[in-house]
Amino acid sequence: MKVFTVKDQEEGAQLAFNLLKEKLAAGAKTLGLATGSTPLAFYQKIVASDLDFSEIRSINLDEYVGLAADDPQSYHFFMNEVLFKFKPFKDSFLPDGSAADSDAEIRRYNQLLKQYPIDFQILGLGSNGHIGFNEPGTSFDSQTHLVDLTDETIQANARFFDKPSDVPKQALSMGIASIMAAETIVLMAYGRQKAEAAAQMIKGPVSEMLPASVLQKHSDTVVILDEEAASLL
Ligand code: GLP
Repeated sequence: MKVFTVKDQEEGAQLAFNLLKEKLAAGAKTLGLATGSTPLAFYQKIVASDLDFSEIRSINLDEYVGLAADDPQSYHFFMNEVLFKFKPFKDSFLPDGSAADSDAEIRRYNQLLKQYPIDFQILGLGSNGHIGFNEPGTSFDSQTHLVDLTDETIQANARFFDKPSDVPKQALSMGIASIMAAETIVLMAYGRQKAEAAAQMIKGPVSEMLPASVLQKHSDTVVILDEEAASLL
């Protein structure tokens, strides 16, 4: 795991963008994408660039259960608004949060991940150390699965909703093993509220209680922190 401390999100986004460009130049065909506020500046860099994704596929980490793709609170909608409508990909896949049969949807997603292995995976970090929606206690062997969100995650994500009770209680998420299968992983974390999780991820024991700590075992992971997120290192 290589760790870089940057001044702010803007500098972090530039670093992640440079890594993406290198990976694309080396032939990457499938990108793993994340939602949340952390990758926003990175997506803005992509939108402002002349990169062309018409031969590239994207696969997103997760989606809320119960929200259809056109629901403004869904991750589908978010990705369209911040990236896909400006930079169309050959295909863009997200779990279908409105699928009536979640087991079938999970099988479909795992099949996609097998068919299109991820070359470059972007990650954020939950304040409890989650990656994707893999909450503390998730098995390191997990593939795509149905998740009961923790109260901490529901509270943290409530800022995107009118009220906390509007936040879905479940999500479909790529599992830890699905994420670890990516060839290159770039995790960004910004702000004081990520400092404890970041320190545990980098220096703590590798433990299912801190999902992101698994990245210590990945052979090509870059962690980008601003000074506040790095403050406990
Ligand atoms: C959500 C997402 C994660 C994201 C995390 C952090 O739980 N499922 O993929 O990394 O939030 O969000 P933010 O970047 O807004 O802090």
